[in-house]
Amino acid sequence: MIHDLKTRREFLEFMGLSAAAVGLSGTAASLLSSCASNPTAPAVLAAPPPFEPLAASSADTLGLANGFNAKILLRWDDALNNKGDFWGANNDYLAFFRLNEEGTDGILWSNHESYVPMFVSGRKRGSVATRSQILKEQLSVGGSLVRIKKDPATGEWALVKNDPHNRRLTGQTKIPIISERPIMGSKVAVGTFGNCAGGITPWGTVLTAEENTDDFYGTAVYDEKGKRTIEESVFGWEKFFNYPPEHYGWIVEVNPLTGAAKKLTSIGRYAHECATIRVAKDGRCVVYSGDDGNDRCLYKFIADKPGSLETGKLYAADVANGKWISLSIKDQPKLKAAFKDQTEVLIRCREAAPMVGASALARPEDIEIDPQTGSVYITLTNNQPKGNMFGEILKLEEKNNDPLSLEFTSSTFAAGGPDSQFACPDNLAFDRRGNLWMTTDVSGKDMNRGQYLPFKNNSLFYIPLHGPNAGKAFRVATAPNDAELTGPVFSHDGRNLFLAVQHPGETSKALDQLTSHWPDGGQSVPRSSVVVISGPTLDKLVEGEAIKPLFEMPVLKRS
Ligand code: FEO
Ligand code: CA
Ligand code: CA
Repeated sequence: MIHDLKTRREFLEFMGLSAAAVGLSGTAASLLSSCASNPTAPAVLAAPPPFEPLAASSADTLGLANGFNAKILLRWDDALNNKGDFWGANNDYLAFFRLNEEGTDGILWSNHESYVPMFVSGRKRGSVATRSQILKEQLSVGGSLVRIKKDPATGEWALVKNDPHNRRLTGQTKIPIISERPIMGSKVAVGTFGNCAGGITPWGTVLTAEENTDDFYGTAVYDEKGKRTIEESVFGWEKFFNYPPEHYGWIVEVNPLTGAAKKLTSIGRYAHECATIRVAKDGRCVVYSGDDGNDRCLYKFIADKPGSLETGKLYAADVANGKWISLSIKDQPKLKAAFKDQTEVLIRCREAAPMVGASALARPEDIEIDPQTGSVYITLTNNQPKGNMFGEILKLEEKNNDPLSLEFTSSTFAAGGPDSQFACPDNLAFDRRGNLWMTTDVSGKDMNRGQYLPFKNNSLFYIPLHGPNAGKAFRVATAPNDAELTGPVFSHDGRNLFLAVQHPGETSKALDQLTSHWPDGGQSVPRSSVVVISGPTLDKLVEGEAIKPLFEMPVLKRS
């Protein structure tokens, strides 16, 4: 009942509207004022923004709102040491691990999701690669670990070049597969790639999510009788290397101190966007992860024991009925009939989840959990074939706020569209005051065209979760041409935001027809880079007592 809804947000959710949409929409605003008996409602709508938000922009630059500034920390191809390791291409997810209490010395992890072949190996757009070109391309993806320090005098962060912690994981790194049985004859995979978003564990490791791995070694397709064929990939690595697609598409756990990695089959295989952890009362970890594709599913993994993700149970979300459905072959006769064992269910999650009633969602991407309430925020980027062009942020609340619960409720927290001024939400991050930051991912082919025209280049937004502007999106930064802003993560004191600027100029047709020259300008080739954002406006937004994080990350001890 409307009159039982005490807050503005509850009212909006009841109406199926987002606070972000309502904040700027005349129709929705009049709907709110005509229905609301609460005399404070007009004042709510007139609340000033916390800073002057940026307008949308199609300039080939990293635009910033007043009181924010950005410094480049690392760029694609920067040398990490004298051993030949370099910062990879297309930096995406970032995680920071402290090496001192203050958090001014630490190890930064970065995913290197993909690459533009023309920039990395020089092969022309659409041309067939040579083996030597692919060997070069393999080194540009995976992940980087680097020691970074903040200069106490200048407040600026810099790479500690040649530090022993600086190392790479690439498309050539051998990584053990943690599995009940060998997969395609082996318990070792060669390479990690398609590393999109990720997560951190309470014991100080990073989880890197292998997303669109089909682009590298193709897609394994099974017919009704289980006969397997391989559909060819985008990059064509399978022409020179005989590695099975089933070795990719997993969550990979990496120790930031040693670089030791393992592929966790327990969390399933699909186009993993991220792996976001909440710790249950009994100490076991629950991992949320989305499968970024049209009509793909949302998953939750419950570990068997504290301190490990190697074994546990995987579930998929039935959003219509608010239920987590077991993907265990022991619980599901349909899965037992279709797959030969649990490992096969995990390898073929994309087929298994819909079989038992999991919901088809609009590209579930990043997931973050509100440290104050336990609410799970999930970006649903879009579903263009179904006419869903702008996406939304979905809010999921577990029954009794218990991450082990198998029941939940969900609602739209913020809808993309012309009213809210954002489209295609992707990465999320919470700041030290418990407010949300969001980046968008309109694809290069759609950007500045058709229905996406008003949104211009991709952007970074600040979304207060509390107070008069709750749920409203304020644009903080705009990306250079073709780029998306990814991997937002705050420094330990909350006053620096590490942000990846990924794939500027990715739609360029040729090296003499570049669509971006960021960050070096002139006629330079564009380079994905990590920037550090700071400034008086950020200081103001995060000042005050810090919200207790979901879990305390340990200060890592240097080896
Ligand atoms: Fe790699 Fe779904 O973004
Ligand atoms: Ca993403
Ligand atoms: Ca994306």
